[in-house]
Parts: sequence; C-alpha cells; structure tokens
Amino acid sequence: MAQDLLNAPVISPLEMTDGEFERISRLVMDRCGINLHVGKRELVKARLSKRLRKLGLDSYTAYLRYVEQETDGAELANMLDSLSTNVTYFFREPQHLDHLRDDIVPRLMAQREKDGNRKLRVWSAGCSSGEEPYSIAMVLLETIHDLERWDVKILATDISTRILAKAREGVYEESRFRDTPLVLRDRYFELIDRGPPKVFSAGARLRSLVHFAHLNLMEAWPMRGPFDVIFCRNVMIYFDRPTQTKLINRFSQMLAPGGALIIGHSESLSGVSHKMKQLYPTIYQN
Ligand SMILES: C[S@@+](CC[C@H](N)C(=O)[O-])C[C@H]1O[C@@H](n2cnc3c(N)ncnc32)[C@H](O)[C@@H]1O
Repeated sequence: MAQDLLNAPVISPLEMTDGEFERISRLVMDRCGINLHVGKRELVKARLSKRLRKLGLDSYTAYLRYVEQETDGAELANMLDSLSTNVTYFFREPQHLDHLRDDIVPRLMAQREKDGNRKLRVWSAGCSSGEEPYSIAMVLLETIHDLERWDVKILATDISTRILAKAREGVYEESRFRDTPLVLRDRYFELIDRGPPKVFSAGARLRSLVHFAHLNLMEAWPMRGPFDVIFCRNVMIYFDRPTQTKLINRFSQMLAPGGALIIGHSESLSGVSHKMKQLYPTIYQN
C-alpha cells in the first residue's frame, strides 16, 4: 500500500502567470474584501488548481473566464470557499465570552427591563461552522435564567455555503470542544457516537436560539437590526484598511445604542476611524 502511494504520479499545481494572479486577487478583493497579497500566491495556486482539475480546465485564464461568465455565482462561491480560512472552535478567545456574561448581558438586560422591551439580538458575522454562535448561545442560556420571558435570537452568517451547511448540521468531534467547560458541552450537546473520536450534536435549546444565513459582508445587508452585540472575530484580518473602515462603520450603524462590537484578539481598529468607545482592547461600544 505504502509502495503504491510512493509510486503514484505527483500532480503538481498548474502554473499561474503574474497577470492571472493579479486578476484573481482583484476579483477576490472586489467580491469579498479579502486581500490576497503576493505571499499568498502559492497557496492560491495549490487550492485553486484542485477546482480547475475538477472542472477539466487547463489554465487559470480559462477558469477566470468561467467564473466571470457564470450567472448564478456558484463557482465564485466555490472559489471563495477554497481560498478562505474557516478555522474555529468552541469557546475561542474566552475572555470575550466572560465579558458577555459578566458585563455586556447584565447591562443590556437591566436597560431592556427599564425600557419594558425584553428583546436581545446578537449577530455572529463570519460564523464559520457554528462554534462561535453556539458558544454565545451556551453563555446566554447560562446567564439569562428566565429566558422564556425574553425574546433572544442569535443571527449567524457566513459567505461560505459549504461551511454554513456544516454549521446547520451542528455535529462536532470532541476536539472542537478542547477549550469548552465539559459541563457545558454535556449540558447542551447530545453524544451521538461514542467513538473514538466522540461525536456530539447540538441540542434543541441551542438550535432554537441560532439562525444561520448566507451573507457576504461586502454586499447589502437585508436585516434591519439593531443588534445588541455583534461578534466579528478573525474575519477582518484578511481585509485591507479601507474595507475594514467601511465595515466597522456599517457595524456601528447596525448596533443599538449601548450595544457592543467584539473583534478578534489579533485584530485592531487602530487607523480605522469610527465613533465607538473602546471598552476593552477588542470590545467597542456604541
Ligand atoms: C477564521 S473564520 C472565523 C470564525 C469565527 N468568527 C471565529 O473567530 O472562530 C473566518 C470566517 O469568515 C468568513 N468570511 C470571510 N470573508 C467573508 C465575507 N466577505 N463575508 C462573510 N464572511 C466572510 C469565512 O468564510 C470564515 O468562515
């Protein structure tokens, strides 16, 4: 068997000209704001050559023509899928979830009680396979003890249809829970395969709070808002400054007064002009 693998022909990625790389970079930047700098060229080549083979095309120029001529955007979605990074896990950057539990939700609940409007809306923008919105859902279920008296919803969106299908399926191997308090995993997920590896499925209480939808952050947003909390973590790292500035200001407009925007720990809004107040290095308030 090992011998067969050693003798298998090595398929090398198709060559890509400077002009083709520039056209692909421009298309990806225009359609989804992702900045494919020159250092990403080998990665782009490796990932897209698989698409070319699948479609039976022999050059990137032919592939670009195919993407530009299609009318339903299906291959563009495939292309963005193969180029974007969907890495995520439950309880990633848990300090944000601590802030949500200890400061943001209690403050918002007190405010809403005063207004006589028991409604909370959270948006996970760039939710990948669902670990982020389900982590938020677990925190809300643990924090709001009289949830049945509240109208709480989490909107979870992503540009990738492939990753959204995974999120909707809501089935995860145990490794995705490496940073999750086990008591929460066992409270909100059902063990559906004893493994190894063990496999869990999101339970009904989590699923009822989260609504998944396809959304390209660079395009028009169909929802009216406002949102009380917006998580957009580890998404903007791929965007250039002008794209980030535009996006941050659109988020700010979508936030309710007093609402919070949470970005990833490796991201920064320095050099981005906006009107929000910084509560914590990666948490901003309208
Ligand atoms: C690295 S994952 C981050 C997932 C999660 N927020 C977290 O922090 O673990 C980045 C996600 O952003 C999505 N994304 C990238 N560009 C996007 C765009 N223009 N609109 C919507 N989602 C986008 C990708 O598909 C990917 O699932």
